[in-house]
Amino acid sequence: MNALIHGHSGLRWIVLILLLVAIVRAFARKNSGTYAQSDKMINLFAMMSVHIQITLGIILAFVSPKVNYVEGWMKMGPYRFFGLEHILLMVLAAVLITIGRKKAEKAELPAKKHAAIALWFTIGLIIILAAIPWPFREALGGRWA
Ligand code: HEM
Repeated sequence: MNALIHGHSGLRWIVLILLLVAIVRAFARKNSGTYAQSDKMINLFAMMSVHIQITLGIILAFVSPKVNYVEGWMKMGPYRFFGLEHILLMVLAAVLITIGRKKAEKAELPAKKHAAIALWFTIGLIIILAAIPWPFREALGGRWA
């Protein structure tokens, strides 16, 4: 349980860094006329890191005391956050990131491939940033790693 929480907590940084690298590359290489194997790989790994995080999260949702559908949970900030907002927003972000990568793979032109990543990964990243229980959201009891 502890290892799971620490794994899930620490993996956030890998997810954020991979998404950021993928996005910066997509914007920077949009007009380069090429979509290299390295682009394909970084986009794939970024998506996979999100999927692994979702898998760990789903397991956590069954065992974590922070997910507790007691009576009135919707009115209790932390229960509402972990039992609804965190799960819903993260799954949404993962779906958008997966759609973006599929669109990038399907597009013919390199510029269109990069554009799909730039758009969909950016939206996904923003949602993920908003749905992380950052330590400065004190009621949620989160940590930095
Ligand atoms: C990209 C997707 C996700 C990211 C980046 C992410 C990130 C995080 C972070 C940073 C924490 C705080 C850990 C801590 O401070 O100790 C956390 C906690 C948690 N996450 Fe996620 N999460 C994601 C997806 C999910 C999903 C899809 C679920 C459930 C289906 C989930 C369930 C949980 C639960 C239950 C906790 C509380 C664990 C505890 O302390 O008991 N997460 N998540």
